Amino acid sequence: MSDFTSGFWNWFIDVPVILGILALFIFNIRMARRRPGAKKEGESTGHVWDGDLSELNNPLPGWWLKMFYLTLVIGVIYLILYPGLGNFPGVLHWTEIKQYNAEVKAAEAQYAPLYARYLKEPIPVLAKDPKALLTGGRLFQTHCIACHGMDAGGNPGFPNLRDHDWLHGGTPADIEQSIAHGRDGRMPAWGKILGKQRVREVAEYVVSLSGRKVDPEQAAAGHKIFATYCAACHGADAKGNQQIGAPNLTDRIWLYGGSLPTVIQTITYGRHGHMPAWLPRLGAARVHLLAAYIYSLSHPAGGAPAAP
Ligand code: HEC
Ligand code: HEC
Repeated sequence: MSDFTSGFWNWFIDVPVILGILALFIFNIRMARRRPGAKKEGESTGHVWDGDLSELNNPLPGWWLKMFYLTLVIGVIYLILYPGLGNFPGVLHWTEIKQYNAEVKAAEAQYAPLYARYLKEPIPVLAKDPKALLTGGRLFQTHCIACHGMDAGGNPGFPNLRDHDWLHGGTPADIEQSIAHGRDGRMPAWGKILGKQRVREVAEYVVSLSGRKVDPEQAAAGHKIFATYCAACHGADAKGNQQIGAPNLTDRIWLYGGSLPTVIQTITYGRHGHMPAWLPRLGAARVHLLAAYIYSLSHPAGGAPAAP
């Protein structure tokens, strides 16, 4: 307990606590006696309420006083065993963090064999195992929903994990790799290189790929720009490249949005999607369970529990 910046605060706590306990002790002793004065024990002190309730000059009952003493003694023992008196750590040296670590260790020991068993099972098998999916689903609720949404349906910039459209690949091994080691999607900024007009043209072309009506002249010019600047990553057919996480631009599924202004924004300023690596935080077995859960969402024949 080195939280205090000066010794003063230590005494600021110690002195009132110790004096307080002593004062209560003395007060208790006084209450055990009949009050001094002219009145004898059992006589009225002269205080009367509600017409006929009068206070007698009696000490507190013995059992009651003993309970007061008992609480004081328990308080003193507590302050000797546990931290409570300023800087004094207590003879047990108990701390919250030690207790927490002990509990985590006990839980790990309890669940380790269970997780080890899951780790041996292939992902498509686990994706049909309701118990594994329940655990995987809970892990997802804890660690993933902030970005991917409660139902894994995604958010702008954070991909939908329920469909068959994958940025980085949808095989069990790809999904496990994404979760374990994280992913980065880097779309360069083209605004300065291409200028406003050519960004507009290539954006019209991109939008045309998913079957929408655009200005044919601009789109034709955009097609040429695409072949020069974009095909290296997105492919000549614009169907994407999972090796580098370049999305398919011909479907109606958008990571950032498919409206013309959003596409122009994406091309002008670039994008950088970052998926954190979870292996260091969660360990191999939990990553494996999460991969099974994610896999089950797009392969629901496995009986994935409906997302809440
Ligand atoms: C160096 C590789 C690379 C090049 C070159 C590149 N892109 Fe991209 N592009 C990406 C990646 C990777 C993403 C995904 C970004 C992310 O995951 O955050 C992306 C995303 C996009 C998106 C967003 C798609 C969505 O679903 O919201 C559009 C639109 C796009 N690119 C268009 C283009 C155009 C047009 C060009 C050429 C001017 C181009 N890209 C050139 C790699 C590239
Ligand atoms: C901080 C936000 C964030 C959190 C938390 C997060 N992700 Fe992601 N995840 C992303 C982003 C962003 C991408 C897309 C990366 C890119 O643009 O290429 C992604 C991509 C993925 C992919 C690959 C999708 C594809 O289409 O290939 C999987 C699988 C995935 N996440 C699973 C998870 C799981 C499971 C968790 C919880 C353990 C999780 N994510 C937590 C941001 C997050």
